[in-house]
Amino acid sequence: MLSEPAASGDPHKFQPSVPEPTTRASEAGVVRIDRFGAAREVLRSGDVRQAGFNAELVERYFGRTNAPVLYQDGEPHQKQRSATARFFAPRVVATRYRELIERTSQELLDRFRTAGRARLDDLSLELAVAVAADIVGLTNSSRSAMARRLNRFFAASGASEGWLAAVGNVVFGQWRMLGFYLADVRPAIRARRTAPREDVISHLIAEGWSNREILTECVTYGAAGMTTTREFIVMAALRLFERDDLCARFLAANEADQMVILEEVLRLAPVVSVLKRRAAREIAVETDAGRLVIPARSLVEIDIDAANRDIEAVGACPHELDPDRARGAKVAGSVMSFGDGPHRCPGASVALHEAAIFLDRLLRIPGLRLERPPTVTTNPVSTGYELRNAVIAIG
Ligand code: HEM
Repeated sequence: MLSEPAASGDPHKFQPSVPEPTTRASEAGVVRIDRFGAAREVLRSGDVRQAGFNAELVERYFGRTNAPVLYQDGEPHQKQRSATARFFAPRVVATRYRELIERTSQELLDRFRTAGRARLDDLSLELAVAVAADIVGLTNSSRSAMARRLNRFFAASGASEGWLAAVGNVVFGQWRMLGFYLADVRPAIRARRTAPREDVISHLIAEGWSNREILTECVTYGAAGMTTTREFIVMAALRLFERDDLCARFLAANEADQMVILEEVLRLAPVVSVLKRRAAREIAVETDAGRLVIPARSLVEIDIDAANRDIEAVGACPHELDPDRARGAKVAGSVMSFGDGPHRCPGASVALHEAAIFLDRLLRIPGLRLERPPTVTTNPVSTGYELRNAVIAIG
């Protein structure tokens, strides 16, 4: 197990304009990376371990054996990714999930049309829950009720500050986790012990994981797959509401071009804005300013928002929303918003399909308007934005 680093002062903000050819980040403290090339090198390095999303806290309590995929590293992680890759294969996305996304979008938008008003963040959560639940295998309970339970669960995990609030969060967090287990996870495990299906829970049962281990993987997918996609869909809708030209282009485009627009939105508004890694040994990364030496045991914070705006990667006017921008070779449309290296998001294509299909149908509704823009807050664990109470209406 890795120990905590020596106490550090303010995070060391890596400045690529520093003239020395070699930069040694002071002690085993915090190293901040804000350039695309260096970020990619660190995320692809075999000498770093996951340190984001409270990974080191999770390790202290649960260890890394049969830990959720997000918290594994090295060979066990690679094995787990290979074994679950079939649930994210392009053919599966284009058939099974596409059909589910279309059907669920239709259901949600029919409900919205009848009511004449809805909270966009509720609709996007329900869609994201339906799709991620199908991938994971959480299909033996009511989808809307599960969405409500997950919403309460994630809203309570760390939104408030102070030790009293922290104690409250732990107690209520455990209570809500138990509710999620009893209502959603346990029935799904029971059903799959007798009749396995093509999903993550069935795979974990076959691998001999305990119910508790399966529960933590389900919570991870809840955070990684459901809450991220929920926020992204609302953010993309806002950008399309704001700009008539972009909205018209989106509706006239084929699906591939719609995804180019969506990825550009995600580049400028990454749902997860900081990724963290712990250096297992001293590592050196090449940067525009020379070599940066990161001491062993340093915490490396990768500023995704900054890396996504690095001119070297995304060309001129990096702060502008421009789907036609000339990016560098081998730079993804969303740049680092789905991460990079071994932990790169396996659900990227699923999320983009959800957003494209749902928004295409939503924005074609005659008389659609944004009645109330959302309130924006930051989730302290994911370091991402949360958009709440966005009300859409017809007429
Ligand atoms: C717009 C939506 C999404 C965004 C912005 C997003 C972003 C990310 C990022 C940045 C990571 C890498 C974390 C790291 O390197 O530390 C990640 C990992 C992951 N994502 Fe996503 N994600 C999205 C949707 C999804 C969906 C739909 C699923 C599945 C249903 C999913 C499942 C996962 C899983 C399982 C991991 C962990 C992978 C690993 O550690 O090997 N994500 N996601």
